Amino acid sequence: MHTKLYTIILAAGEGKRMKSDIPKVFHPVGGLPMIEYVLRRAIELPSDRIIVVVGTGKEIIMDYVSKRYEDAFFVHQNRQIGTADAVKTATHELTDLEDDVLILNGDVPLLSNALLKDFYEQYKKSKSSLGFVSARLDNPAGYGRVIKKGTRFTILEERDADEKVRKIQEINAGIYLVSYKALVKAIERVEPSPVTGEYYLTDIVRIIQSMKKKIMNYHTDKPEQVIGINDRKSLAFSEKVLNQKKLTRLMANGVTIYDPDNTYIEHDVAIGKDSIVYPNCFIMNGTKIGSRCIIWNGTIIKNARINDGVEVKPYSIIEQSTVGRDAVIGPYARIRPESVIEDNVHIGNFVEIKKSSLGRGTKANHLSYIGDATVGSRVNIGAGTITCNYDGFKKNLTVIEDEAFIGSDTALVAPVHVGRGAIIGAASAITKDVPTGALGIERSEQRNIEGYAMKRKSKLGGR
Ligand code: UD1
Ligand code: CA
Repeated sequence: MHTKLYTIILAAGEGKRMKSDIPKVFHPVGGLPMIEYVLRRAIELPSDRIIVVVGTGKEIIMDYVSKRYEDAFFVHQNRQIGTADAVKTATHELTDLEDDVLILNGDVPLLSNALLKDFYEQYKKSKSSLGFVSARLDNPAGYGRVIKKGTRFTILEERDADEKVRKIQEINAGIYLVSYKALVKAIERVEPSPVTGEYYLTDIVRIIQSMKKKIMNYHTDKPEQVIGINDRKSLAFSEKVLNQKKLTRLMANGVTIYDPDNTYIEHDVAIGKDSIVYPNCFIMNGTKIGSRCIIWNGTIIKNARINDGVEVKPYSIIEQSTVGRDAVIGPYARIRPESVIEDNVHIGNFVEIKKSSLGRGTKANHLSYIGDATVGSRVNIGAGTITCNYDGFKKNLTVIEDEAFIGSDTALVAPVHVGRGAIIGAASAITKDVPTGALGIERSEQRNIEGYAMKRKSKLGGR
């Protein structure tokens, strides 16, 4: 008979040690809330049902999870009085005595699918009533310690342990598989810790053994996968581990990472082969970079689509935008959200683009602001061109058609339309539409006064 697998994710804790207003499992690692990784593992296994125990900051967690995992079910733990109490709340949602229950802490994001799958298989094979994962840590501080006497196991929380037990390096990972039948019985029998008054889930190990049921211990030699995040220090450490894993995967897929110690790429970023990423770049989730791209140092890219062959020169920022093939961006360029930069466009230094589209082969190479504009193909935007898109009340649109030539230091006072192939004289303030092929020029005529400089010198005393 097929037994179902229910997964309970514990996510109600305050996370006191984080000293934060945000619930702990919602803190990001690799650009995703840590609970996201745990949910992914539960889905992959696969779980027949996922139950998330929420409490502290439950609105923000439920909002996030329900948008992405429609089938996830929430139970509310009213008071955060321990992991056993959290599980007890969740067991009220389970019914079938033949089922298995996987319990995961919401603060263990580095766990791999391979480890969980193997644990599940070994647990099934062993026909145990409970299995728990342990690992040996060089620094076991903060974790529950696993005490083994013959075939009997006890898990003791650090806060309840004496010096001798604290020296034990085998730790409880907080990952359990347990038969529903044994779980419901055992969970009722957990007593509060005499030291902290909390109900420890770890007690079920002792209780289920005392019920003469079989226990299995799954020791993993991948301790980095079971790191629990309790404070900012372990958060930073996990970030590092996750980032290195990401970079290793990218390198294995043909991406050159010039200096992996100083490159930061979030978990869900994709980069095509023969692309190069130079140091001190932050490439954030939602970003997809094609092949043969060069991402120079100091660049920040967030939620953007960068097509093949693009070069992003140093210290540029690209956010929530699309960049076409073989375009060149930067140095020091800023592409703000909702921009579409088509193939072969050149955006140069100190150019800001906001909510605008630039057609193929268009160039804006120096010191410009292009906002709320639709710019055609092969347009030349001279140095210092500004779209004056804001009149103090609302944003107005600028349209520049194909092959127009915008002279340097032009102010395009929107709403305004520049026709195909039109030319704008340098330093013009353009407030009226310019027809196709016309010259638009707005500037007073130049006067030259002969000999002025000499006259001024003698008047002011020849200095
Ligand atoms: C827990 C284990 C410890 C193990 C470690 C592994 C217990 C008593 N201890 O300790 O043996 O080594 O994980 O990382 O289980 N939570 C609730 N409701 C509560 C309390 C906690 O939902 O009332 C949730 C938290 O949000 C968290 C998880 O349970 O996701 C674990 O709680 P945490 O306080 O982090 O336990 P640890 O002290 O790390
Ligand atoms: Ca923890």
